[in-house]
Amino acid sequence: MSDVVDVEDTEDLECALEDDRTARRRVAIHDIAPGADWNEVEEAILTRRSIRKFKGRQPPAHLIRRILEMGRFAPSQGNCQPWSFVVVRDREMIAEMEQYCVAVCQNMTAGIDYTNYESGSEQRAAILQNTQVLNRQNPNSFHPVPMTAIKSIAKGRFAVFHKAPTVILILVDKRGVGVPEVDVGVVGTNIVLAAQSLGLGTCWVGFSRLLSSNTALCEKLGVAAPFEIAEAICVGYSIGNPAQQPVSRQTHEIIWWEGGQKEVLY
Ligand SMILES: Cc1cc2nc3c(=O)[nH]c(=O)nc-3n(C[C@H](O)[C@H](O)[C@H](O)COP(=O)(O)O)c2cc1C
Repeated sequence: MSDVVDVEDTEDLECALEDDRTARRRVAIHDIAPGADWNEVEEAILTRRSIRKFKGRQPPAHLIRRILEMGRFAPSQGNCQPWSFVVVRDREMIAEMEQYCVAVCQNMTAGIDYTNYESGSEQRAAILQNTQVLNRQNPNSFHPVPMTAIKSIAKGRFAVFHKAPTVILILVDKRGVGVPEVDVGVVGTNIVLAAQSLGLGTCWVGFSRLLSSNTALCEKLGVAAPFEIAEAICVGYSIGNPAQQPVSRQTHEIIWWEGGQKEVLY
């Protein structure tokens, strides 16, 4: 037998294998009966939870590269791919990021949390007035969920980066077509689901955007224009099994048009 590989034959073989794989995928799709077991992708979606307690063990670098690769293959508007990643695995650097975010939250609460001041005091009245103005300008800025978290972060009761061994910063290129932040959400979704399928725990960290106001730290991290920090994802090995803790999900109504009829489903 000759050792020389015929390129055309190899290509033919690759094509045949690909056709076979595609054909098998099609069969698998048609074979799914109503009520069939969830497949692996669906299982990953259903069992993923935000992890806020991590073991100290660092996940191997090749797994982080692997989940980033899943992010790289995310769809994006106009295929602009308006993102970039900064992976931080140095504890000192993560601690510096954490400290800065805590300081920002402390400043924020000092300026807007009137409950810190005595009832009837001038300071309380001034801060209350400030918050009313801010609230009119941006009605969502005092939503109780972020406000409670900001207060907890300021008091050291809630960690921003959850003491995770790896933090992936997802940077957004604002020049992306349409709404580049949506593309960032899609990338991150690929990353967290790939991580879930590989046994890694993740948590999105929207508060990572607070880092943007620290030019020196951004420069040190390697965040440079036209990129900005859009989101972060903490990665590591989960302590405990959070999939066992139910998280409430609303059942939104679905408007369903079919056969000229409009129905509302749940
Ligand atoms: C864009 C985005 C930003 C988030 N930011 C934070 C955050 O800063 N801190 C945090 O602990 N969780 C954060 N989360 C996690 C949500 O709180 C969590 O997804 C939600 O409570 C549902 O819980 P589950 O992820 O366990 O299903 C964020 C989630 C998303 C999608």
